[in-house]
Order: sequence, then structure tokens, then C-alpha cells
Amino acid sequence: MRRVLVAGNWKMHKTPSEARVWFAELKRLLPPLQSEAAILPAFPILPVAKEVLSETQIAYGAQDVSAHKEGAYTGEVSARMLSDLGCRYAIVGHSERRRYHHETDTLVAEKAKRLLEEGITPILCVGEPLEVRERGEAVPYTLAQLRGSLEGVNPPGPEALVIAYEPVWAIGTGRNATPQDAEAMHQAIRQALAERYGPGFAQRVRILYGGSVNPKNFADLLSMPNVDGGLVGGASLELESFLALLRIAG
Ligand code: G3H
Repeated sequence: MRRVLVAGNWKMHKTPSEARVWFAELKRLLPPLQSEAAILPAFPILPVAKEVLSETQIAYGAQDVSAHKEGAYTGEVSARMLSDLGCRYAIVGHSERRRYHHETDTLVAEKAKRLLEEGITPILCVGEPLEVRERGEAVPYTLAQLRGSLEGVNPPGPEALVIAYEPVWAIGTGRNATPQDAEAMHQAIRQALAERYGPGFAQRVRILYGGSVNPKNFADLLSMPNVDGGLVGGASLELESFLALLRIAG
């Protein structure tokens, strides 16, 4: 019922020229897929993605978007610009933006709204830091973040929203959540979505797990009933490991 999504968040890696070569190789080596593959590169790479990946099975999108529609906002990139570049997705609320750029739930919700206005699907990230998990408060913390980041956000349908659960302590650390811990959180997130948007809607929203996903742990994570794919950082940078993840997703 929910199509598995493997989304590679390249963060601040690769130049447009490097990406051009990588995309061409990916196109050449891509196996037939039931699942969906997406690459989320830095903004300057998006025109290259449009050029090379349009009309292929590989979707692409951005890692952030402005909360403003248009205007005198130096350095910002609008949802309308992303739409013109053919983005299907954009990440909002990644923990690195929350931590290093002080993004609040309110700001994240505004960004999600701008994306929906342009027909772009937000991949909305939530997740707890280590000290919160150690205090046994991971679920209430993450659900509060989810509710705050969805305040006033009304997707036209369940396909127009993707949630990514990314425990902060698992990002880039090589220490992933156990499949059971991920599943427990994904269940709680789906329940919160059901309360917010109704059970039918919640059943169809994809919830990705992110945090040290690699070809060794992905199959076990994906075997969980509420894990609908991965938001992958490090392991999406090498073509071989990204292809391995896609083969696991099927
Ligand atoms: O958005 C992706 C995550 O931050 C995960 O990064 O796979 O390098 O741990 P990672």
C-alpha cells in the first residue's frame, strides 16, 4: 500500500560536475524498481538533476526551502524556484538545520506550507537527541516536535507528505536505532498522524527511518511494518552503496 522510498540526502557533498557523472552512472546501472529512489543534493546541483534525471525513475529534491514566498531575502531559495527545477521533494526540519540554524517547529511548519503550495512533498524530519532517549522521553519529545512542525500544515492527500524519523544520536555516528526501537517510534508517529489527519490518511503516509542506514542494516529496518524507507546520508554518497540500498528495497 505504501511504496518504499529510498532518499539520499547528500548534505554539503559533491559539486555539480561530480554529480553529473554520478547521475549518469546511476541511470546506467539502475535496476528495475518497485520502490522509489530520490536524491536530495545541494541547491546548485538541482539544475544538473533536472537535466540528467528528468524522465527517469529517479526523483530528486532539495534539502531545505525558504519559509518566505518571494522577496528581499538574501541567500534564500523559494519553493517556486524548486518547483521550476522539477523537485518532487524537499527536506524540512532536518536536525542539522534545527541545531546549527536554530530552526523552530513553527519555522519548519511554514516551510512545509510553502512546499505544499507549489506541489512539492515535504520530507519532514523529527527525532530526539541522546539525552532525551536516555531519560526515556524519546516518544513524547518526538511527537511534540511532529505536532509543532505540522501546525497549520494541510497536505491535499497522504502522498503529499513524508515523515522521516531521525534520532539525532544515530546521524552520522554508525549507531543506528534497532529495528524494534524504530518501529515503536514509527507506530507512535502514525498514531499521532491519525489523530491529526484521520486514520485512513495516516495509514498511507510514508514514514522513513534515517540515521546510519547502510546496506548491512537496511533489510532489517525495512522488515518492520511501519518503516517505509530510508533517509540516507553517508551511504547515499557512494554509488555502490546507494545501489545496494535500492536492491534491498526492491
Ligand atoms: O538525512 C540523513 C540523515 O541525517 C542520516 O545521515 O545516514 O549519514 O547517518 P547518515
